[in-house]
Amino acid sequence: MCGIVGYVGPRQAGPIILRGLQSLEYRGYDSAGIAVLDGPGELAIRKSVGKVRELTSFLSNGAPSGTTGLGHTRWATHGKVALTNAHPHMDCRGELAVVHNGIVENYLELKKSLLERGHTFASETDSEVIPHLIEEGLAQGKSFEDAFAPLVDRLHGAHAIVALWKKAPGKLLAMRRGNAGGLIVGLGQSEALVASDLPALVPLARRVCFLEDREIAVLTPAEVKVITPLGRVVPKRFDPVSTDAAWADKGGYKHFMLKEIMEQPQTVGSALRGRVDFEAGEVRLEGFPLSREQVLDLRRVLLIGCGTSLHAAMVGRRLIETFAGVPAEAESSSEFRYRNPTIDAHTLVVAIAQSGETADTLAAMDEVRQKGGRLVAICNAEGSQATRLAEATFSMRAGPEIGVASTKTFLASLTILALLGLQLGQGREALGRQLLQESLGHLASAPYLLGQVIADLGPYQRMARRFCHYEHFLYLGRGIHHPIALEGALKLKEISYIHAEGYPAGEMKHGPIALIDDKMPVVAIAPRDELYPKMLNNIEEVKARGGTVIAVGTQGDQELAAKTDHLLIVPASPPIIAPLLVTPALQLLAYYIGVQKGCDVDQPRNLAKSVTVE
Ligand code: F6R
Repeated sequence: MCGIVGYVGPRQAGPIILRGLQSLEYRGYDSAGIAVLDGPGELAIRKSVGKVRELTSFLSNGAPSGTTGLGHTRWATHGKVALTNAHPHMDCRGELAVVHNGIVENYLELKKSLLERGHTFASETDSEVIPHLIEEGLAQGKSFEDAFAPLVDRLHGAHAIVALWKKAPGKLLAMRRGNAGGLIVGLGQSEALVASDLPALVPLARRVCFLEDREIAVLTPAEVKVITPLGRVVPKRFDPVSTDAAWADKGGYKHFMLKEIMEQPQTVGSALRGRVDFEAGEVRLEGFPLSREQVLDLRRVLLIGCGTSLHAAMVGRRLIETFAGVPAEAESSSEFRYRNPTIDAHTLVVAIAQSGETADTLAAMDEVRQKGGRLVAICNAEGSQATRLAEATFSMRAGPEIGVASTKTFLASLTILALLGLQLGQGREALGRQLLQESLGHLASAPYLLGQVIADLGPYQRMARRFCHYEHFLYLGRGIHHPIALEGALKLKEISYIHAEGYPAGEMKHGPIALIDDKMPVVAIAPRDELYPKMLNNIEEVKARGGTVIAVGTQGDQELAAKTDHLLIVPASPPIIAPLLVTPALQLLAYYIGVQKGCDVDQPRNLAKSVTVE
């Protein structure tokens, strides 16, 4: 959370930083600020509350002049959303500007001692202790680097920090400690940049390198030197930057979210590409790290993730148990690490994270490594921390997902999980040749069938107009569609701020049925699968209590049409791909309800795309 960008070189830093912040806004958008240094003279700081566009319009008569600068877009943790809490933060003398991503876990103690030593604070943030700590080092006559380096040990928690000092024009210092959402340094033509993510570097940087834990980068126009806290130079390789990281546009759609929903047939196709040998009837996930013997020796598969990625894990669990016949569990990364989980070399852990930077998932992955479990990741962000912790990563290949609510990366995860289930089933000889061939054929047909789900947006728009004024929704599903009900409810609450609960339909009678009345529409996922008759019973139970049912069902299902108030149609499909077809219907329902309510669907309040704090 929070986006950081810094520039040093021959160009005006202000516009470059503003453009970089715009591309990092998905990380947080409570407030934004920049600091620009004009030679050794003036350090100008400008901030505004709200999105980066507020800052850009505030600076429409020109950003402060100068060729060294840094900027920040905030997702508030400590201190309310206010101008004083926006970054950059300064020291007492107004000579240092610092931007920070992370939480200074010992800030109260540090702040208390700084106050005792006469420092004054302008904000309620934890971050503000940082410039004051550097200030103390400088006051003792240390160099900028020597005053900055001790932060690595003095600040508890995970951090990404960039600082500039008025008396060191043409220089930026950057530091990474722990997993606070990454920090990447880039080299251009006589210029250097640093940012939380690649899109902010892409226009200018030709080669980039990721900072590792406890590394400090010294950026000048001529070079980027990476050192340890003790000043030892760390040799780093700078790789050419991938153009895939370039800033995406809306491609004619009103919102990124809609564009990303509509891209999903291609997303599924690209998640399959090159991973299936249709002729041989085999799955070959690239770099799968377990030998044939190790696959046969597997005793358990554990899938972890947060939010939408947790829902993908819950679907994956069912696919893996079905195809590979190995016990599989799904668990929230944030709970996993706090229960001393039993993991050994016969446990395969699959970590799912579109951003690859979710602090809870990274911490859980660390725990798996320490306990000697086998670890693979499903991830959309090339070079992210998750990809570096895992033994192998299966890339989602979904392209940039800019809408804060995950859509296409969910479908990419489901596709890869189906492949993983089949590959494990193949390796464990748990899967007959015919079932494997049929399942691969079904997966291959998913992009085409998905195209049918999104071909006509009219029903979703009509449904949104009809239901946007309701305050509560209940989503019901069974079996593989239980996590899809959870995901549908999550999408609705995230982007329309309507309270929605996802529930296993069989559990309804154990409590939630008390809530049913005409004020709470029930979205029932009822495709024609083996649990269909049970879902029909649940629908009857809702109707008998005066509830309104919106069903997602199979094309041509007259029986369902007769029993429900509204029907969203998906093509008939086997269970392996049914979630891929039902999910977009729920995404579109949530999207149009959000739009109908006038919500900012691409950047819902209080959320951020990369959750880099615990
Ligand atoms: C929901 C959403 C979040 C993320 C969660 C995990 O639309 O976007 O719930 O799914 O924060 O993010 P990743 O997948 O990056 O670990």
